[in-house]
Amino acid sequence: MTSTPFLSLRSISKDFGHIAALQDVALDVELGEVLAIVGDNGAGKSTLMSVMLGLLKPSSGTIAVNGEPIEFHDPADAARAGIGAVTQDLALVECLDVATNMFIGQTPTRFGIVDRRRMRREATTFLKSVNATVPDVTVQVGMLSGGQRQMVAIARALRSGAPMILMDEPTAALGVRETALVAELIEALRDQGKAVVIVSHDLELVLRIADRVQVMRLGRSRGAWPVSDLSRDDLVGLITGTRDVPAAGLAA
Ligand SMILES: Nc1ncnc2c1ncn2[C@@H]1O[C@H](COP(=O)(O)OP(=O)(O)OP(=O)(O)O)[C@@H](O)[C@H]1O
Ligand SMILES: [Mg+2]
Repeated sequence: MTSTPFLSLRSISKDFGHIAALQDVALDVELGEVLAIVGDNGAGKSTLMSVMLGLLKPSSGTIAVNGEPIEFHDPADAARAGIGAVTQDLALVECLDVATNMFIGQTPTRFGIVDRRRMRREATTFLKSVNATVPDVTVQVGMLSGGQRQMVAIARALRSGAPMILMDEPTAALGVRETALVAELIEALRDQGKAVVIVSHDLELVLRIADRVQVMRLGRSRGAWPVSDLSRDDLVGLITGTRDVPAAGLAA
């Protein structure tokens, strides 16, 4: 890595009682790249995401944004620093329509009244910009397919304008076509210069769309490598612990 990373974690540890969920983890993310975080169940991926999002305070270690040390006391701090997220539950309200979901917490008003026309217009524009196949922004989210919901959640994160977007299992439970759409969208975000961090168990997807991959195992980082340096077997071996860490390419 040559420039200052957008986000840097150093020596991050997180204990839950006597369980060490994270131990001495370093991580860097640059603008304009897709970083995939992989690892077996319980490896610490979600805990690491929660630390980056201000949902969990690390037991020790430091966080820097654009090289400046920072502390996240809550998710609002991380959001102010430019870190947005698409969480696994997507945090959508099923009984509300698509447009309203995209503006939750940021509803535009005109003369003190909710400006529905503007919400619908902007929601339509954002969904179009991500090639989402959502029929109409006045449809209730409860009527949409898994992939369409994922698109609405991603479009909402985009609306916030955050330079970095974290996604937890963005294609879990999606069909082949919908997975391909989300993959295209992630690549488009990267090409727009955003930092995209995905947690995924789908190694084919990771090898296809990530620029770098960071492997977590038993709460520790085994390192981060350009995807082009690793075969699928290398990656499986690093995740399961049957393969030694390659000497070259160790970044974090
Ligand atoms: N709130 C908590 N309280 C106690 N232990 C926790 C808590 N959250 C996570 N852990 C423990 O920390 C470790 C890491 O969990 P984490 O959820 O980060 O793993 P993960 O890599 O996301 O796994 P998965 O792939 O199954 O989602 C596990 O041993 C887990 O049991
Ligand atoms: Mg998890």
